[in-house]
Amino acid sequence: MSLHATAAALVAPGKGILAADESHPTMAKRLARIGVESSERVRRDYRELLLATPRLSEHVSGVILFDETIRQTRSSGMPFAQGLLRAGIIPGIKVDAGLAPLPRFPDESVAQGLDGLSDRLAEYAALGARFAKWRAVIRIGAGRPSSTCIAANAHALARYAAAAQEQGLVPVVEPEVLMDGDHSLERCALVTAAVLRAVYDQLARHRVDLGGTLLKPNMVLPGTDSGQVVGDDEVAAATLAVLRDTVPASVPGLVFLSGGQSAEEATARLDALNRSGHQPWQLSFSFGRALQAPVLDAWGGHHDHRDAAQAALLHRARMNGLARRGRWSAALEPSPPPLVA
Ligand code: 13P
Repeated sequence: MSLHATAAALVAPGKGILAADESHPTMAKRLARIGVESSERVRRDYRELLLATPRLSEHVSGVILFDETIRQTRSSGMPFAQGLLRAGIIPGIKVDAGLAPLPRFPDESVAQGLDGLSDRLAEYAALGARFAKWRAVIRIGAGRPSSTCIAANAHALARYAAAAQEQGLVPVVEPEVLMDGDHSLERCALVTAAVLRAVYDQLARHRVDLGGTLLKPNMVLPGTDSGQVVGDDEVAAATLAVLRDTVPASVPGLVFLSGGQSAEEATARLDALNRSGHQPWQLSFSFGRALQAPVLDAWGGHHDHRDAAQAALLHRARMNGLARRGRWSAALEPSPPPLVA
């Protein structure tokens, strides 16, 4: 499949991406929350549970894997990437090597992993990956982000995107502006716009073919400590205002990250985005926590809870599939347990 065809397939109507590419420390944190210790065996079992969910391909177009996972096999012995391809789901791979502090810029980081990247991409392609992801992180705070931090991360994202395309992989370009902090929605909008302008300037300089890319943006939200209360339609309007000013129409799709929103918040906002009239790009999801948190809760590390955990994943995937079309409603969610006085 060509880069353009793969990018289009990843944002097919009603479908989106499951991000299951947590690094070892992040996975250990997610598992610790449900009282499970992380080990290679546990990570493999959990990810097999996710990827073998029956009918997942009805709502999930692609899955982002971590380096360890793309080298692991299902209990049957079939490599995970092959299992996904057989199920009609496109395998992807996280290729940044995490965040490094940006010297002389306290509390700022640059995503690393450019050294040897082309060789790693070629190996991942041989293992079955058809798309890649690189996540840069931008933190809002007093005097942050610096223009240096934005420029360094935009440059690295463009170097990665060009290298991915050269190896036949669709780059998912992720410059995440974090929700952490006490900033307002308006500040998040200004920062997100500045970051996206820098990213598309660098992608052009590095001759990246935008029709064979996807953008993985944050939604425009107030900081978690801001106390600012916003409605879903307000979030959708602020997010679209920024994206329409900065993201070229030749990009086929935007796959939002969830970034710490609850599962239902992320779905409600994706639905509001898709109800906002016609846009030049598909508006889809590439959720990690917003798809997996309810699965981890249902599973709890117990083999007997596997079916319930898969049902939880299928439900969230279906809800986000509906939100992709602007057809979700809170009434479709199971009612929360009654409050005990
Ligand atoms: P969240 O949806 O949990 O933000 O994760 C998405 C992701 O892949 C971050 O890189």
